[in-house]
Amino acid sequence: MTNLTRASSPGSAPTVQRRADGSGLLDALRAAHRGAPALTALAPEGYARDHAAFEALSDQRTLIAAHLTSRLAARASGPVAVLSVGCGDGSLDAQVALAAVDVVPERAVRYVGVDPYVGSTTAWTGAMAALGRASLSAEPLVATFAAAPITGSFDVVTFVHSMYYVPDVAVALRAAYDLLEPGGELLVLSGPRGVLNALTDVLAPPVAGHRQWFSEDVAGALVEAGLAAEPTVTLAARLDLAGASDRVLDFTVQGRLTPQLRPLVREYLAAVARTDPAYDGPRVPHPVDVHRVVRAA
Ligand SMILES: C[S@@+](CC[C@H](N)C(=O)[O-])C[C@H]1O[C@@H](n2cnc3c(N)ncnc32)[C@H](O)[C@@H]1O
Repeated sequence: MTNLTRASSPGSAPTVQRRADGSGLLDALRAAHRGAPALTALAPEGYARDHAAFEALSDQRTLIAAHLTSRLAARASGPVAVLSVGCGDGSLDAQVALAAVDVVPERAVRYVGVDPYVGSTTAWTGAMAALGRASLSAEPLVATFAAAPITGSFDVVTFVHSMYYVPDVAVALRAAYDLLEPGGELLVLSGPRGVLNALTDVLAPPVAGHRQWFSEDVAGALVEAGLAAEPTVTLAARLDLAGASDRVLDFTVQGRLTPQLRPLVREYLAAVARTDPAYDGPRVPHPVDVHRVVRAA
């Protein structure tokens, strides 16, 4: 971690106080972006591609896959139905589906994947088919959660990094809860507003008129929706952005960076990267919170 101060002198470029938490650099980014047009949003195809490249630099997916498969393994009898909202390309859901199927040989698993981007649902369907499990029924729905024609009820509903984009978190939580079987569980995995998402907060263009919703927003919306969640579990992942490509950097801030902003973003990420032994660094903290609500049996 760096902790430098650039001296200012009359007529020199604006000074940046670089504190250990990068807050001076965040202020500099805020100032550099103030009054400028919103960054161009990531189009779905580029979003999906750059998301995959971003996740390859983190151990978070491994932690999420282990967490979700352990939840499915706890449902060790009978058929099971899973709804994945914002399912993406299936690289995660295929691992979860495999665990759900194989924990009980020949057990019927219904897996529904909802995503508004057809490129993702097509990849998701392919990833599920590649598992080659006859007892797995994979049903893609190309739609936002609010518009998806979802039928039936579910033992598990997941939102893995997709709650950021819904128009109203409390409404989405309540709708997801209503799709649960008695004893079913809703799992919402979202990043907290830490050093990484502080960047998104400052730079990401609005999604359909709202900022992205983080884990803290989910916690508040659970209360608003009258849903009692279990204590939040945090999966403490680490992200290596030291040599990240420009596209991965764009995914990190959730918008196409300008040549003016990109060096500041790299500087900020270098400042907040940790090098202590737990980080085997330099790596940026990349935690994800798991909010879990169980419907009364
Ligand atoms: C960060 S990706 C996560 C994908 C997948 N869950 C994973 O972890 O690999 C977020 C996904 O949410 C989808 N998404 C965006 N808005 C959505 C909405 N309103 N309803 C459902 N999915 C949405 C995006 O298309 C994208 O595939």
